[in-house]
Amino acid sequence: MKGKFVTFEGCEGVGKSKQIQLLQDYLKKENINYYLTREPGGTPVSEQIRSIILDGKNSSMTDECEAMLYASARVQLLKEVVKPRLESGQLVLCDRYVDSSLAYQGYARGLGVEFINMINDYAIKNFSPDLTLFLNLSPEKAFERKGGVDKHDRLELSGMEFHNRVYQGYLELAKQNPQRIVVIDASGTKEQTHAKIINALKERNII
Ligand SMILES: Nc1ncnc2c1ncn2[C@@H]1O[C@H](COP(=O)(O)OP(=O)(O)OP(=O)(O)O)[C@@H](O)[C@H]1O
Ligand SMILES: [Mg+2]
Repeated sequence: MKGKFVTFEGCEGVGKSKQIQLLQDYLKKENINYYLTREPGGTPVSEQIRSIILDGKNSSMTDECEAMLYASARVQLLKEVVKPRLESGQLVLCDRYVDSSLAYQGYARGLGVEFINMINDYAIKNFSPDLTLFLNLSPEKAFERKGGVDKHDRLELSGMEFHNRVYQGYLELAKQNPQRIVVIDASGTKEQTHAKIINALKERNII
């Protein structure tokens, strides 16, 4: 692939969206061409799958169903958007990717990393980002900063214990994939975290 694929990961409210926004400002200023997308979503089909997953009315959804919906949304995004843009040489940024499935469904929901890897191997043939920026901040600190829980979001309601398992899952993934996953300390100001992200992207020759 001619372009580079960069994903953003971390628990809810750690500042992924904010950092992506700051990075976009930077890329525009530097005249670096990029494409931004998000997971689950990023295509008309994937966005519809997203609304099913996040709908508070769907509390009866099984863990297995949820995991496969994520994988379905992902393969649609990959084929329709990510791969063509990488082939044309674009920098593709994605808010969450397969590590979210591994951390949330594999580790935290207890489906096991093996099961999540299996369905994603089928869906995306292990298509891996060139770089993953893991914004490292504990769920407690992130929720504190955000000022509480969004009552309409089924995932956020699953409780702090769940989010702590997600966090531990991310730390484990970072340990297992040191070449791909860069751990970014996200406990400082937005500007401090932004500077760390720019450094990481420059060090890896992404920008
Ligand atoms: N470094 C920071 N210091 C203080 N507040 C921050 C910082 N980074 C982000 N915030 C604030 O925390 C809140 C959550 O940030 P943001 O929406 O970017 O997180 P997120 O990781 O995208 O969350 P989600 O997983 O829910 O999409 C926002 O109100 C944002 O302004
Ligand atoms: Mg966000």
